[in-house]
Amino acid sequence: MKTATALANTNIAFIKYWGKLQGAANLERNLPAVGSLSMTLDEIGTRTTVAEAERDGLVLNGVALAGEPLAKVSAFVDRVCRLYSVPRRAVHVESHNTVPTAAGLASSASAFAALALATTRAFGIELSPQALSGLARQGSASAARSIFGGFVELAPSRGGEDVLASQLLDEHGWDVRLVVAKTTEAEKEVGSRQGMQHTAETSTYYPAWLASWELDFNTGKAALLARDLDKLGDAMEHSTLAMHATTMVARPPFLYWNGATVACIQAVWQLRRQGVRAYWTADAGPHVKVLCPPPDAPAVEKLLAQVPGVLGTAVHRPGKGAQVL
Ligand code: PMV
Repeated sequence: MKTATALANTNIAFIKYWGKLQGAANLERNLPAVGSLSMTLDEIGTRTTVAEAERDGLVLNGVALAGEPLAKVSAFVDRVCRLYSVPRRAVHVESHNTVPTAAGLASSASAFAALALATTRAFGIELSPQALSGLARQGSASAARSIFGGFVELAPSRGGEDVLASQLLDEHGWDVRLVVAKTTEAEKEVGSRQGMQHTAETSTYYPAWLASWELDFNTGKAALLARDLDKLGDAMEHSTLAMHATTMVARPPFLYWNGATVACIQAVWQLRRQGVRAYWTADAGPHVKVLCPPPDAPAVEKLLAQVPGVLGTAVHRPGKGAQVL
């Protein structure tokens, strides 16, 4: 076994993945029930090294972790060895995140993308990017998209078939910016896996979500390929609001937003009324991400930085796919 290091950037979904194909066997394979579209970001992700060890261990940002995070990593390594018929060796996994962990900036996406690439290389397995995306998906569906740079789609699994991500445009294919407004330092209370399963099981709007995602996906994909920011932004806001609406009418209900999230949304809408082409989205957390043309990014960032409750802002370009270092 070799020591291998991989770097993966996180990604933000324009059209949201929210909900898995139900049934024990499908849930085990982590198959998305809906399609999603995303942008991989530059300079924000996870660097992971996998090396042989006496027993499985995980160090994240310099802190040794046991319990659930280590169990998830061990289960992922078990899966890789089982799928590719290689003898299971114990591994030491060392990861560094440049994403606030579990706060809605999609740390699981870059984490499982980097882990999939570093683990396969450490065990001497060479996979195509598509096959690697199918493997990363089994750790976290959004991770499938972080294997690729630029703009990426992940198809839904309609009948239990395996699904892989694919690149629609590379990181040079469309020059846009995503301005991130951080609205908390806290870890979220409801993880995306738990949140989407709870809404699938209890939300009165989940059937409506399943009926509406595809129109947003098709409109969003056509708009992305045509580089039509306004059409994409409109589909993105609808997909985002539909996803968050499912949580509000789950039983019991939950909401990923805080007051600053709502204030940012209203600030973006106000900016749009003034003619700025800025569109917002939010994932399983309270941060707000705003898509806009490059010349508008400084004004968007300045506006978001002034919203009460915003703790920090950053501007991201489309970034590269996962790489071995
Ligand atoms: O892949 P997960 O389990 O981290 O779920 C991601 C869910 C959202 O971030 C809310 C949407 C998405 O498509 O990334």
